[in-house]
Amino acid sequence: MKHHRVVVTQHGGPDVLQVVEEDLPEPQAGEVRVKVLAAGISGYDLMFRRSGSLPGTPSVPFTLGEDVAGVVDKLGEEVSTVELGQMVAGATFSLGAGGGYTEFICLPASELVPVPSGVDPAEAVCMVVNYLTAHMAMHRTSKNRSGERILVHGAAGGVGTALLGLGKLAELKMYGTASKYNHELVSALGATPIDYRTEDFVERIRGLTGDGVDAVFDPIGGARQLWRSYQVLRKGGRLVWFGVAATKKEGLRVIPFTLLMRTLLALIPDGKSAPLTPDLDKDNAWYRETLTELLDLLAAGSIKPVVAERFPLAEAARAHELLERGGYAGKVVLVTSA
Ligand SMILES: NC(=O)c1ccc[n+]([C@@H]2O[C@H](COP(=O)([O-])OP(=O)(O)OC[C@H]3O[C@@H](n4cnc5c(N)ncnc54)[C@H](OP(=O)(O)O)[C@@H]3O)[C@@H](O)[C@H]2O)c1
Repeated sequence: MKHHRVVVTQHGGPDVLQVVEEDLPEPQAGEVRVKVLAAGISGYDLMFRRSGSLPGTPSVPFTLGEDVAGVVDKLGEEVSTVELGQMVAGATFSLGAGGGYTEFICLPASELVPVPSGVDPAEAVCMVVNYLTAHMAMHRTSKNRSGERILVHGAAGGVGTALLGLGKLAELKMYGTASKYNHELVSALGATPIDYRTEDFVERIRGLTGDGVDAVFDPIGGARQLWRSYQVLRKGGRLVWFGVAATKKEGLRVIPFTLLMRTLLALIPDGKSAPLTPDLDKDNAWYRETLTELLDLLAAGSIKPVVAERFPLAEAARAHELLERGGYAGKVVLVTSA
């Protein structure tokens, strides 16, 4: 039997994403073959597609996609944690730069968690990288307590909307930067929106709070951005930097300046901090436990992820065009026919 997979044929624009037809992959011992129903698209995918200069980029041709949800189609030997026909979700960490843009994928059973019945696969896939990243940042790195104030940059993005969803559950007082066209959504998710294009967020946060916020979540990066984020922290506040969305406009050169600024900020002895967020794949027990918890919250209706748009797998290039263009909110997802 054959299936379809989207490959990056060479580095470049969205049109380098091509669909190939090939034999089904076979699961090795400890692996599970999953018939993919939904696969997430992220900013990292765009960086890996555009250029081979990012550390960890595989050589072409390769397949992108860091998270999937789908149905267990075949079990390798020694697998006992999932069953045939069961819906599962998980990350593709073991494959390096990804692999999710495909109809069938083989993954280690240890990366897959059962999805409660009735859950939409596109919403389940939002739990994997976006909500896990948000959970890690909020509950392990920043350790937010009920009643604290937070500022979420990129509040209408995939991770930003996840932070607002979890922040509401944790009873935090939330502020979020976003373009004007996303302010209604940011308000609906429980945060006070700030237009980062036309307003000075440092002044605005000071005006709204007096002495600042307890945590800033910054997926934008750039030396000036991090410096300004640090300025809105009150004493005891944490700057949690976890991404470089600024590369979209400014290119990869923004990364070393971001790293340098975070290191310098962490050295200032002023009662504020800039803690590092651990990688999601370093603690499998935490990963499985937290992903299970998030999927249960999703099934119970306690969190509602924002799916920006669903594209058929074969239209991955069109989906990347949307990410390049901007103007969406939440997570863009590729779907296959069930
Ligand atoms: N460390 C990790 O484990 C991890 C995991 C996932 C993601 N990330 C990182 O996090 C970044 C964000 O991921 P995502 O999936 O949420 O991306 P996304 O869905 O593309 O969202 C990015 C958002 O950033 C907003 N934005 C752009 N420039 C901004 C600025 N100067 N100030 C405030 N907002 C700005 C855009 O908002 P508007 O459309 O409203 O303008 C957009 O909604 C990625 O680039 C990646 O580097 C890291």
